[in-house]
Amino acid sequence: MKYTDEVYNAAPSSEPERQLYFIDLCSQFVKLKTKELGRPLKYSVITFGCQMNAHDSEKLKGILDKIGYTESDDEISDFVIYNTCTIRENANQKLYGHLGHLKKAKNTNENMIVCLCGCMMQEKHVVEKIKNSYSYVDIVFGTHNIYELAELIYKRLSNDKPVIEVLEAPVNTVEALPTKRKYSFKSGVNIMYGCNNFCSYCIVPYVRGRERSRTPEEILREINCLAEDGVKEIMLLGQNVNSYGTAFIGESEIINRNPDYGFPQLLNDVCNIPGIERVRFMTSHPKDLSDELIQVMADNKKVCRHLHLPVQSGSTEILKRMNRRYTKEQYISLVERIQNNIPDISLTTDIIVGFPGETEEDFLDTLDVVEKVRYDQAFTFIYSKRTATPAAAMENQISPEVIKDRFDRLLKTVNRISAERAERFNGEIKEVLVEEINQKDENLLSGRTDNNLMVHFPGDRSLIGQIIKVKLNECKGFYYMGEVI
Ligand code: 5AD
Ligand code: SF4
Repeated sequence: MKYTDEVYNAAPSSEPERQLYFIDLCSQFVKLKTKELGRPLKYSVITFGCQMNAHDSEKLKGILDKIGYTESDDEISDFVIYNTCTIRENANQKLYGHLGHLKKAKNTNENMIVCLCGCMMQEKHVVEKIKNSYSYVDIVFGTHNIYELAELIYKRLSNDKPVIEVLEAPVNTVEALPTKRKYSFKSGVNIMYGCNNFCSYCIVPYVRGRERSRTPEEILREINCLAEDGVKEIMLLGQNVNSYGTAFIGESEIINRNPDYGFPQLLNDVCNIPGIERVRFMTSHPKDLSDELIQVMADNKKVCRHLHLPVQSGSTEILKRMNRRYTKEQYISLVERIQNNIPDISLTTDIIVGFPGETEEDFLDTLDVVEKVRYDQAFTFIYSKRTATPAAAMENQISPEVIKDRFDRLLKTVNRISAERAERFNGEIKEVLVEEINQKDENLLSGRTDNNLMVHFPGDRSLIGQIIKVKLNECKGFYYMGEVI
């Protein structure tokens, strides 16, 4: 097989036909190589970051499977792809650590292809660094063209130079390509891409672009197919699901805005799909969470009793400078409305410590919110300066010593409250979606309640994928030991 420009140029221009054409060409390459080497060609997808990235990785795996690569259990294989995250500086450092190890491996396997994609690649200075210092990287692409993986692989095969294709903004959205779900019985579904909120510390709007919703028809069609395929639990994904429907993909914001059909209506429609038994969603911005949504959640038992509601800070002054557009009081009042209407809800949150200018008093406000809300779980982050975000240029960056002290105090508080919250289920019988064999003890199964609480219990692996009743016997802080009833 010859990898030529002519073959490349003969590709159909419409999608997904174009990608299917390249998948076919790449699969011929994999077949030949497999024969030549006398062993299957393997791939590894290493994912950093959030649920969105995890879901994107399932799409990458779907394409690689279709091409004929076999998934490897190891990080090093014939096709290694890192799906990167850049939300905090340590996410970036992690990638460079991994890349360092890869160089030696690449020298001993001439067939190896190294590929980088995801949020970090949307940053120009990162791509420059990769070009200059990591010449053994073969393919680089960003968040807007992951569907082009097969095309980019073909380009790399037909050309001896690295292929770097990062789009600044989305040109096309192609959903109708194969995906490989980690679990057969649960799946993430993108309902929107991007973010318009520009919280002053956050790089996401710069690397994921403007908010774009998928149409309800397309989302519901996808979930119907998933349900037919045995999926019971759906996680609706978006950076800010509560503003779903403001602007649709590829069309004008003004023409498409339909105030009568937003996230609450979509959630309700998803719950009505036969076969779907649980619906989760992530992430909610407090400023856009409507009473209508609370009502839909309260009325609909299929909506899991878990809400992730990032607070970021408890101080109104800091929230203002974070550009979060709510006050401490508004957040607490929203939580009260949620807890009053959905008494069994579990709340989780994200908190940033050490935002520029954060005083001890501001920090005490954060602790106060944590005590008042009593989160089931809180993800705590040290503020990380992100290039080009407004907060990076703010004065009064906080010293590492002060941040560490606050971070430790916050962690102590959230851990104590989490453990107290988890205790409330002691002795209860809960419905659990059985997910997998326990990773540490193969005699146990692991699953989740709809509150997102992890439970481990003895049982037969045939239960995996089923929703069963489990008695929560012993609280171990963040998880339970239980027994099947
Ligand atoms: N520094 C620290 N944490 C951050 N997050 C986003 N940007 C930053 C940053 N620059 C956190 C927020 C967000 C979560 C996904 O990551 O808490 O909700
Ligand atoms: Fe970042 Fe704020 Fe958008 Fe979340 S809502 S992705 S924190 S800008």
